[in-house]
Amino acid sequence: MTKQGREFDIIVYGATSFVGQILIEYLTHYTAKITARYNNEAITWAIAGRNEKKLLALKNKHNINDIAHFIVEASNFEGLSLLSRKTKVIITTVGPYALYGEMMVKACVTNGTDYCDLTGEPQWIRAMLDKYEEQAKASGARIINSAGFDSIPSDIGVYALQKIAVEKTGKPAGQIKMRVRKVKGAASGGTIASMLNIFKEAKENPTLRKLLTNPYALCTSGHSYKVRQKSHKKAEFDKSLKMWTMPFVMAAINERIVHRTNSLLSDQYGTGFRYDEAMSAKTGFQAWTFTIGLGGFMLAASVSPVRNLMAKHVLAKPGEGPSEDEQLNGMFDMRFYSQLANGEELVIKVEGDRDPGYGSTAKMLSQAALCLANDVPDVAGGFWTPASALNDHLIKRLKEHAGVSVTQL
Ligand SMILES: NC(=O)c1ccc[n+]([C@@H]2O[C@H](COP(=O)([O-])OP(=O)(O)OC[C@H]3O[C@@H](n4cnc5c(N)ncnc54)[C@H](OP(=O)(O)O)[C@@H]3O)[C@@H](O)[C@H]2O)c1
Repeated sequence: MTKQGREFDIIVYGATSFVGQILIEYLTHYTAKITARYNNEAITWAIAGRNEKKLLALKNKHNINDIAHFIVEASNFEGLSLLSRKTKVIITTVGPYALYGEMMVKACVTNGTDYCDLTGEPQWIRAMLDKYEEQAKASGARIINSAGFDSIPSDIGVYALQKIAVEKTGKPAGQIKMRVRKVKGAASGGTIASMLNIFKEAKENPTLRKLLTNPYALCTSGHSYKVRQKSHKKAEFDKSLKMWTMPFVMAAINERIVHRTNSLLSDQYGTGFRYDEAMSAKTGFQAWTFTIGLGGFMLAASVSPVRNLMAKHVLAKPGEGPSEDEQLNGMFDMRFYSQLANGEELVIKVEGDRDPGYGSTAKMLSQAALCLANDVPDVAGGFWTPASALNDHLIKRLKEHAGVSVTQL
């Protein structure tokens, strides 16, 4: 189904979510700026959600009353189908996706509509791939999951490093280690709800537990990857990098997205490519204290009465998240370390100028959707990753418009 002639370039579904509200503020300023600067990116957009009162308040707040809004429940396939036929790209922040996301994916693959989301739920992506990948290929819908802090920085960091490795030596790096050097930000209620839901589903389903430990769980069928991948479960001293490391919670989704990118790019990183993510720590004490704290949280979250109590009384609730100050003063700095085929060490830094999960995520998601709408007409329908579909176009946009830079050190 052709996307030409549709009423909108982008509809933001879940515009009133915590991250959606930040995204609307960003898109409002961005579109006001760019229509004056670049006529070729004068975009038409609209917002959608389940609650009209909240949508109207959001329009009022940002003085965008001329923008259309639509009301649709996440379980209403017919309504979502109608919505998806109005636009070239749907951005959706309605999550946890495993609870509320499927009908929108179905609507987009049915109607050949491009789609970007923020899911960090590998089990849900796997289920959507199994159910809808063939339909997406047939209808021309380009589906991009995990287009926020998970997993854009990891995906483009590895992509950029491998491009330089091939330019320098003719071969990709056999191994890349990503270490989060600095991160400042907090989790929102929506993210916590998604994480708690993964614990709940994993507790109830052994097949899912197995899938969550498979680094290649999201790779294309027919991939031949067999190399055992390192998974950071505790504090460790990395002798080659000379630093303490501790587990990074987003590794569970990021590592799988990076391997999927490799499989979508016809093994461009090699069939024996090794990739792992961890956070760096200043001392062994810090690494162990963090590991023990995280272990305690995971143990508590896997016991349902404790999980329910935490969700009710301790953790941020859906709709809550970091303050404006915390977003503005937040940042992230991720380093990608490798040794090339000629023995040379190559390090890439990916840096963001806002808190990773919200301030930066809202900008990254917006630019991923704009990139999908405008920059990559030749990419076919199917389930893609940010780097495999949007590659250098996205890196350029993030640098110019989203405060996210990729540099060689
Ligand atoms: N990848 C990343 O880096 C990243 C970063 C941040 C967030 N996330 C993910 O993004 C999602 C949103 O996070 P958040 O903190 O912004 O969440 P949130 O504030 O809890 O928002 C959830 C949104 O879903 C909507 N919603 C819930 N049930 C619905 C239904 N039945 N029909 C229609 N809409 C429904 C809510 O509508 P109302 O506004 O009407 O309540 C709200 O807009 C979560 O899944 C989170 O894990 C990912």
